[in-house]
Amino acid sequence: MIQRNLGMTNVNVAIIGQGTWTYGENKGLELEEVKALRFGIENGMTLIDTAEEYAQGGAERIVAEAIKDCRKEIFLTTKVSAKNCSYLGVIEAVERSLERLKTTYIDLYLQHWPSKEHQVEETMRAMMYLVEKGLIKYIGVSNFTTELMTVAQGVLGEHILTCNQVGYHLNDRRVENDVIPYCQERGIAVMAYSPFGYAPKFFGGAGFPEPGTKERQVLDEIGGKYGASPYQVALNWILRHEGIIAIPKAKDIEHIKSNLKALELTLSEEDLKIIDSYFPKTNEGMSLVTY
Ligand SMILES: NC(=O)c1ccc[n+]([C@@H]2O[C@H](COP(=O)([O-])OP(=O)(O)OC[C@H]3O[C@@H](n4cnc5c(N)ncnc54)[C@H](OP(=O)(O)O)[C@@H]3O)[C@@H](O)[C@H]2O)c1
Repeated sequence: MIQRNLGMTNVNVAIIGQGTWTYGENKGLELEEVKALRFGIENGMTLIDTAEEYAQGGAERIVAEAIKDCRKEIFLTTKVSAKNCSYLGVIEAVERSLERLKTTYIDLYLQHWPSKEHQVEETMRAMMYLVEKGLIKYIGVSNFTTELMTVAQGVLGEHILTCNQVGYHLNDRRVENDVIPYCQERGIAVMAYSPFGYAPKFFGGAGFPEPGTKERQVLDEIGGKYGASPYQVALNWILRHEGIIAIPKAKDIEHIKSNLKALELTLSEEDLKIIDSYFPKTNEGMSLVTY
């Protein structure tokens, strides 16, 4: 698996990691979920993304099982929920996550969403405390606009803001207008979530183009030139930017195998233009959503 430097740190991480949203929601799927994560890890997808919010801690428990004998090889990311973003709330949340993850440290700790109740300044002060205590290695945010990243950076001072995890896929290119250039200029890693589109019930849908649509046909055709699937084209297209990492979620081993090979093609300028015409970039930037 190709590695990429994580922002301004000296750490190299797998350019394609593993998401865990919906993990731990169904007892009957737990073995399959651990197996999927293990397969990814064994094939170099050693960056794992989870959150205290996923299955109310259930996803972190699945991750713990999958990494129990290889913790040192893993770059572990988890997130504090927006509602827990008071100074004490963050500290208590990390303690619960560490317990569920059965580890003594988190590599990258993210504020999951901007909070309605708690100021970024307060949350970031707690994050700095956690670094000083050795409970987390790096501080990051998720779903942060450029304005909020500026506030966070201002508080952090010498503690760098390492990463912003944001939604990015063919049908939502808003971060190209603001978040990506902002992060590239400042050496902040961009971690792309939902690389295959948003689930129908969330963020207004816009999932992966369905078979039979002209958008799917064009991805099929481009993929056909390289012996690649439309999903591989979509993932490859995201990772064309400097400094971007993607965290697809795949429980199906065949999907993981496919994602592992997504970087084996190089999209031509002509293909990129065709993609632009079917999945156009709008002028808007990422909107602020708070929880
Ligand atoms: N920070 C945030 O606010 C936030 C929000 C959303 C997500 N995330 C993170 O980002 C991760 C990824 O996002 P996501 O789960 O929303 O969506 P996603 O990774 O874009 O898509 C997941 C869906 O795509 C399928 N899939 C994966 N690889 C495939 C392939 N090669 N071919 C065909 N289908 C494939 C999966 O199926 P199978 O599972 O059946 O294999 C699953 O149904 C999450 O799991 C989570 O860790 C973060």
